[in-house]
Amino acid sequence: MPAPQPRPEGGCARLRDRIAVELARARARTTLLTEVVDDGELIRQHSPLMSPLVWDLAHVGNQEELWLVRDVGGREPVRCDIDELYDAFKQPRRDRPTLPLLPPAEARAYLGTVRDKVYDLLDAVAFTERPLVADGFAFGMIVQHEQQHDETMLATHQLRAGPAALHAPAPPEPSVRVGGEVLVPAGEFVMGTDTDPWALDNERPAHRVDLPAYAIDAAPVTNGQYAAFIDDGGYTDQRWWSPAGWEHRVRERLSAPMHWRRDGDGWSYRRFGRWARVRADEPVVHVCWYEAQAYAAWAGTRLPTEAEWEKAARWDPSTGRSRRYPWGDEEPTEAHANLDQRHLRPAPVGAYPAGASPLGVHQLIGDVWEWTSTPFGGHPGFAAFPYREYSEVFFGDDHRVLRGGSFGTDRSACRGTFRNWDYPIRRQIFSGFRCARDVRPDESYR
Ligand SMILES: [Fe+2]
Repeated sequence: MPAPQPRPEGGCARLRDRIAVELARARARTTLLTEVVDDGELIRQHSPLMSPLVWDLAHVGNQEELWLVRDVGGREPVRCDIDELYDAFKQPRRDRPTLPLLPPAEARAYLGTVRDKVYDLLDAVAFTERPLVADGFAFGMIVQHEQQHDETMLATHQLRAGPAALHAPAPPEPSVRVGGEVLVPAGEFVMGTDTDPWALDNERPAHRVDLPAYAIDAAPVTNGQYAAFIDDGGYTDQRWWSPAGWEHRVRERLSAPMHWRRDGDGWSYRRFGRWARVRADEPVVHVCWYEAQAYAAWAGTRLPTEAEWEKAARWDPSTGRSRRYPWGDEEPTEAHANLDQRHLRPAPVGAYPAGASPLGVHQLIGDVWEWTSTPFGGHPGFAAFPYREYSEVFFGDDHRVLRGGSFGTDRSACRGTFRNWDYPIRRQIFSGFRCARDVRPDESYR
């Protein structure tokens, strides 16, 4: 076999620049999220569902050390004595506050040392065909890992008691009216990807999926729609709930989305330390899969399958091709989607007309993660890379797939193929949903 060949130097320089920019952008967000609160708040566990922020902080550095400094760079370890402490599989979240974690100043210094080594090796690395380094994959994986923890840390901020620490401008106002549903004609589309260089293992490989015609909501379900379900007694009517969902609802006494409370004849909710009136035209957020499923049953619909979500987001009827995003192949801009923690809440429906899919489905990317009915599994031909623990160990009926990213997701960790997953009871994440339904034969396209 011929030896792996490095790429032409011009392409490598551009790739190096892009990696450096993305690493710095992730670190700026990590720094912001961990500097707006004092050391006591960093060390405290704000919810048994979440790690202390200082654990996330050092874990981000430790993963960067393991994959980039030691594996890609072949360098000496910076701190091999702490690997175990920051191994997410060895340390359950509930136990993390009792561990001898690095204090905040030491954690920050550790991240700085690791990052300096990464910049140093980035100058020298050859982007050969070795899968871990081809197209800068390991760097892209680490950028996405840090950004994913930044979203987790944002969810911790949302659970934190006490005065507001984070501030952001309001998202854009609606500029078009969006409502109702969109009919998606029957037929094949390409799901997943072989070509997106930083796509993770569970997004691969590309494969054809044939779907019958279906209808899908043009926008995520809004607070106003969800409040109508509550007002109609949706939470106390067992008919709408699955057996497991009903049992969970009763045990946990669920009666509204997380962070909501009654406010006169309406609702208020607490967002990042501030109470505000629930706005009817914003996508509902902080609902679990069981709540989403019950709402859909009440509305006479169902949750979309993951394939239905992806076809609505990526399939271009004029070419038959699947694109990277609903609006095309170009990277998200501020006009396309509510991403990057730019606004700390979902944008009202109709705020992103430039981000709609060719079929007219809006706000698929950003705003809220959307629950699908599909259990998390591998695409046909799945191969774990570079380690089973990224996604394969989570395959099975325990987890449901969420798609599209939220206002807390960074654009580097959000594509039309990107897949997230969680337990059906979870709602501390920025989770919402839209509905779908089968169509009658006389409704479908020929
Ligand atoms: Fe992690």
